Formats: sequence, C-alpha cells, structure tokens
Amino acid sequence: MRKLCFLLLEFITATPMLPNFDIWNDNNNRVAHPEMNISRLPKVLNFFPVPVEEECLSNDQRRKGICMNAYECKIEGGTSHGPCALGFGVCCVFTATCNEEIHNNITYFVNPHFPDLSKDMESCSLTVKKIDPEISQFRLDFIHFNLGQPNRKTGVCEDDIFVLNGGRRQLKLCGLNSGQHAYFDVENMDSVATIEMKLSKKAVTRLWEVRVTQIPFTQRAPVGCLQYHTGTTGTLKTMNFAENGRHLADQDYNICIRQEQDMCSIVYEPCHENAFRISPNNDDNVTEDVGSGETPEPRADECSDKVVLPCDSEDLLMPQDVGPGFCTLVHCGESLCPAGETPCRIESSITPFMIGVHFGPNAREAPADDNLGMCLNYEQMPCNV
Ligand SMILES: *[C@@H]1O[C@H](CO)[C@@H](O)[C@H](O)[C@H]1NC(C)=O
Ligand SMILES: *[C@@H]1O[C@H](CO)[C@@H](O)[C@H](O)[C@H]1NC(C)=O
Ligand SMILES: *[C@@H]1O[C@H](CO)[C@@H](O)[C@H](O)[C@H]1NC(C)=O
Repeated sequence: MRKLCFLLLEFITATPMLPNFDIWNDNNNRVAHPEMNISRLPKVLNFFPVPVEEECLSNDQRRKGICMNAYECKIEGGTSHGPCALGFGVCCVFTATCNEEIHNNITYFVNPHFPDLSKDMESCSLTVKKIDPEISQFRLDFIHFNLGQPNRKTGVCEDDIFVLNGGRRQLKLCGLNSGQHAYFDVENMDSVATIEMKLSKKAVTRLWEVRVTQIPFTQRAPVGCLQYHTGTTGTLKTMNFAENGRHLADQDYNICIRQEQDMCSIVYEPCHENAFRISPNNDDNVTEDVGSGETPEPRADECSDKVVLPCDSEDLLMPQDVGPGFCTLVHCGESLCPAGETPCRIESSITPFMIGVHFGPNAREAPADDNLGMCLNYEQMPCNV
C-alpha cells in the first residue's frame, strides 16, 4: 500500500508538468527536466502497486536484472535474484543459451555449461528479438568471450566464428574479447537479429557471457560507432588484443569516446611498450628514399592495415612528412607515434573523439607478433589548461 500511495503521489506531482514536455526534443529530456521521471509515468496509470521496470543488481551484485513482480518474472522466464523496489519486486535476471531466443531487455547469453567451459561443440545460434519496434541498437557487452583464435598468420576467423546478423552490417568476431563491447544498429531491421556461432571440431574449450541490452533511440550511441566509451579516462583495445592474440582481419569500424563535460581534448598513450603492433604493408615499390638515416617508419600510404586518429594540424599534413611534431592521420607499424618517440603521447582536440580501425579483409600473412593490434589508454583534458 505504501508503494501505491507513493506512485499516486508521483503521478499527481508530475501531471502539472506535462504541458512543458517537449516530445520532439528527445535528446534533452533528461537534462531539461531532471525533475520529471519520464520512464515511470506510463506505468503509474494502471494504479497497481507494481514496481517500475528498472534496472537492478542481482543479490550477488554480479549481474544486472530488471525489477518486476515475482510472478511476471517467472512468466517471462527469468529468475529472481533478490528484492528490489522496497521489496515490492524481485530483481529478475534473464539468461539464454544456444538455440534459444532473447525477448527481454538485459539478457545474458552464455555457453551451455556456463560458468564452466563448454567443450566439443560445433555450433550454437541465438535469436534476438526487439522488445519494441522503436529499439534502435543492441549493445553487446562481452563480459566473457573466449573462443578459438583466428588464423595466426592472416587474422581471419576460420575455426571459431561468432557472427551477428540482421542489422545494416554484420559483426564477426573470434578469439579473446572479454571486456569489449559493441553497438549493433537495428533501426531498419524488422524484428530479429541472429547470432550464429560456428565452432571447430578442434578440441577448444570455450566460455562466453554476453549481455544484450536493447537501446531505444534516445539512448543510442552515435551513428557509425561500433564502440562508445564514456568517462574521462579509459582503455581502448582492438578486438582480440590479448597475449598470444593478434588483430582480426576484415575490421572496419570506429571507436568513439563521449566528450565529457568541460573537456576539450583527448590524449592517447599506448598501454605498454608492445601495445601497438600493426604490421605495415611492405610491398616492394615503396620506401625508396629514406633521408634521415633513421629506421624507416612506414609512410601513411603504405599502411594496408591501419588506425586513423584525427589530429589537430590536419590541414598542414603532408603524407610523407614524418617525425616528431608532425601530425599523422594514419598509423601502422610498431609505434603509434610517427617517429617511434617514447614516451608516445598523442593529443587531439578534434571532436567528436574517435579512432578509426581499418584492417583489410584478406590480411597479408605476417607473424602474429607484428600484429598484436592496439591498446591505448585515453585521458580527456579540461578546456582551461
Ligand atoms: C527515477 O525513479 C527511480 C525510482 O523509481 C530513481 O531511482 C531514479 O533515480 C529516478 N530518476 C530520475 C532521473 O529522477
Ligand atoms: C534496457 O535497459 C537499459 C539499461 O537499464 C535501459 O537504458 C534501456 O532503456 C532499456 N531499454 C528499454 C527498451 O527499456
Ligand atoms: C606501388 O605503389 C602504388 C602506390 O602506392 C600502388 O598503387 C601499387 O599497387 C604498388 N605496386 C606494387 C607492385 O605493390
């Protein structure tokens, strides 16, 4: 009863504000009307003391769930993990495994034996249904993602392949990607996406736990961003950046970083001294003239696999100018910094903050050590320095 009164009160206090509610200004609702808790308004109207379907934490704090009443949780196929909404609801956690379907927000897709490893599997598929036609993106959080490695020489996923289909583009992965995430555009998709996993017969043990969140239009990541990092500091890695890993072939995406309040530029630094290894395309007809006697660094136009970092003096840029102080858009080889200087640190105030990752479809054969990929720490810098 307490909850009911509480909800009614909310309804009464919120109603007078409705005329101010600018429905066309999707992005700014939260900012412009912080006092209005839009997400709970529609639920109030049925006058039942049901908890609002909001995110909650499971009682072991390990997973996110949706706060709903115990009965509803059971009907939807979830499991209760402790109370929420002052005890009026349960934190309902959804999981799905091979050959099942996701039809709830915040659902964990796990290997069949999770939390143990799965062995001897050949395939696994999953259907992901939009819970609402207005869903704009799926966000996949790879909490655990441990599949077979790509071809060591080419980076092509051959033995184990994880493919997400149904959106505008396909997402294809293999190897080790725990801690990574990806946004998948489903705006023009009818209603279902599918995950297909092909798993080789080679005796590989696998483990995965992928949280799938359904993102409405108002909360989507910017167009063209496979990854969207928030926070003033963080770490960016190419897929399968791992010990004994190598970067994947056939990758073409942007890593975006949200510009935080009062921040004007961003600094990138390799995570450690081996954290940038993207082999240049050393075809025979390039790099004839090496003026300085220094070890020739790859010229920007030599990179077949590359990372693109917007830099401040872009207008003045000449592709062959390489050296400290010069700004280079395209990066490959053994160092993020054009002349290999250490410590290597690149600052950019070009917004939006973004790094392009472009690895060719048929990567040239090259030792894995030369193709570890990239791990960068970033830090946003305040405007008034
Ligand atoms: C909305 O309401 C929930 C509780 O129902 C609360 O936890 C949350 O902070 C509120 N959000 C805003 C923006 O007021
Ligand atoms: C799904 O859950 C996320 C995380 O709590 C939330 O931001 C999003 O709005 C939810 N999606 C829908 C359609 O309710
Ligand atoms: C030589 O370089 C040019 C321009 O960089 C390129 O178009 C061409 O394919 C290269 N030729 C060979 C044989 O690699």
